[in-house]
Amino acid sequence: MEQYIEKLIEQMTLEEKVAQMQQISANMADKALRNKFIEMGTVGSFLHVLGSETADYTTPAENSRLKISPIFGIDAIHGHALLKEATVFPSQLALACTFDDNLLEEIGYATAKEVCADGLDWVFSPVLCLGRDLRWGRIDETFGEDYYLASRLGSAIINGYQKDNLVAACAKHYLGYGEATGGRDSYDTEITERYAREIFLKPFKAAVDAGCMTFMTAYGTIDGKPLTASRKWITEILKEELGFDGFIVTDWDNYKSLVTCLHTAENIEEACVDGVTAGNDMAMFTCDFYENTLKAVKSGKIPESAINESVRRILRVKARLGLLDGTRARPPKSVIGCEEHKKLNYKAAVDSAVLLKNNGILPLKAAKKIAVIGENAVSVRAQYGDWTYFSHPDPKPEATAKEKTYTLLKGVKEVYPSSEIVYSQGYSISGEETEDMFNKAIDTAESAEVVIAVLGDNLDWNGEGRDIVNPVLRGRQIELIKELNAKGKKIICVLVNGKPLVISELEKYCDALIETFNGGDMCGLAVAKLIKGEENFSGKLPISFPNEVGSHPNYYNQYEHWHGGRYKDAQKECLFPFGFGLSYSKFAYSEITLDKDEFGKDESVRVSVTVENQSDTDGFETVQLYFKDKVCKMLTPVRQLIDYKKVFIKAGQKIKVEFELPIDRLGYYDENCNYRVDGGDFTLFVSGNGKDFKETAFRVN
Ligand code: GLC
Repeated sequence: MEQYIEKLIEQMTLEEKVAQMQQISANMADKALRNKFIEMGTVGSFLHVLGSETADYTTPAENSRLKISPIFGIDAIHGHALLKEATVFPSQLALACTFDDNLLEEIGYATAKEVCADGLDWVFSPVLCLGRDLRWGRIDETFGEDYYLASRLGSAIINGYQKDNLVAACAKHYLGYGEATGGRDSYDTEITERYAREIFLKPFKAAVDAGCMTFMTAYGTIDGKPLTASRKWITEILKEELGFDGFIVTDWDNYKSLVTCLHTAENIEEACVDGVTAGNDMAMFTCDFYENTLKAVKSGKIPESAINESVRRILRVKARLGLLDGTRARPPKSVIGCEEHKKLNYKAAVDSAVLLKNNGILPLKAAKKIAVIGENAVSVRAQYGDWTYFSHPDPKPEATAKEKTYTLLKGVKEVYPSSEIVYSQGYSISGEETEDMFNKAIDTAESAEVVIAVLGDNLDWNGEGRDIVNPVLRGRQIELIKELNAKGKKIICVLVNGKPLVISELEKYCDALIETFNGGDMCGLAVAKLIKGEENFSGKLPISFPNEVGSHPNYYNQYEHWHGGRYKDAQKECLFPFGFGLSYSKFAYSEITLDKDEFGKDESVRVSVTVENQSDTDGFETVQLYFKDKVCKMLTPVRQLIDYKKVFIKAGQKIKVEFELPIDRLGYYDENCNYRVDGGDFTLFVSGNGKDFKETAFRVN
């Protein structure tokens, strides 16, 4: 393959090579310009094309001199969700609640089959940014706040996507995008290289190790340097140090942003020189890239060797996908939205739900009359979350839900066929609230024994460029719950939201509380079955819930604090911590045993703990292993997740769960960014809920 690529590069003109580095958007406003690029027949990639349109783009390539097929990329980030007929899985944040690598791999594979069957080749997924600042608008797209969980689940879904070379995955947004100061989208991320290596680089390293074929640079800057133009981060660290051998695409119009937003380049030609010499291989959308890069090569500002290296990487990925030699195999279109994927999606929705509170009202075996309250009980747009046919590529207010989507209302009606089910909207997240709406909901609930209140947020308050200072329940949602509670109603609250909201008050007034985030096509059926007890909860939070809006940092793996570590006007503890989640099963943990208590740096610790299911309900438990380096020359977090296992334990049974922990994974980066494993004392914690821990200690010599 490498020889084939080299020969191809030798045959290519400079124009053909630079065209491979240009990506063009199907939806760009200037259709004449877009069609000009299509007619060239040599553009390397198109994005946001749906399968039915690909022929318009491939025919000119087939008639071109070298017939190099374009690679079609799309934001299939929780299923091929920009295509209405496809399977819309729960969002990444929801899937992260499963702590289930195998499930993520299966979902990656199913999505890849649907994208490939549809005629496309490349998914801009997974997002490996971390959701640590709740003000940021794209928390819903992350695997939560922890780099270890993001590393495991990111690798799993990449393996799923790239199995059988169905599609190329894309690790994004490289790197530190979610950590921008103030949670402001694309603003500067004030972190040092050391801190980036300690936290944000780890999921991307895992992606390289998983063989991820492409990466996408983030919009913003690290410590003032644009990622798009950072030779250090792109070439020295990602390509040379970590050995990434695929290609890098910029995010949307990043070259132009160097000129218009970041002002680090005088003009587009200078931006192209900075980006290409930094090691960026493909330009997403910046239409002036082609001409200006050609100009810069001809004037010697960009060495042709840099062009050859980028084209080599692009052709390497195309070759792996079978796009170069006509061997590209695609599953039949019948796989799109098929029954098998629907079943997988149902399991994903069941396992993504997190039970946060249950005072005994659940499971709700039967009820004569149930009132379902809340616009999010019927809003598919809210339930889906971002990057679906409702929201992209252009916002489509006219989009209508496909029949098979289970909203909460539809799910409750199906699961409680002999109950009378009544519905009322009750509130409006987007502000069109009326007194009448509020009172009608109270009246509707009046005669019902049980209220299922579906609360949360929607895409007005989540997404790119939609950062917020108040992650709260908007409108009169809490007031409605307090009123229903005052009337003595039993209230089961279901949350449909893109990020943790401040629900400390809500938590007091409901009898049960279930978090679904954005649960996809099957969420309504899955949650209704969970409420009835026909399914059991196993979800755990991948992100902490704060008690107060201003609490920051709120993630669990903080450093030790000085002065008590709290704000004067806020509680220290978060409301629900990372790793928390209840179940109908009750799990009890034994003390931890280690194979010995002193280790050399080249050894592994064998950890074992016995977990007993002390209930009459079979269930899954995610056993979490954390560690703490008790004395270290650099600050280390109070605890850090280092492994987890999700195990099935039948009612009344107990099982021994074992971990093998290599000592060399317990190191840190010193102030010169050297990775070190010092000797000393370490603590290990085991937990099933991020709150109660069994502890033990060992020493490294
Ligand atoms: C967007 C997003 C990126 C997405 C790309 C293509 O602006 O930042 O995540 O993949 O553009 O849609």
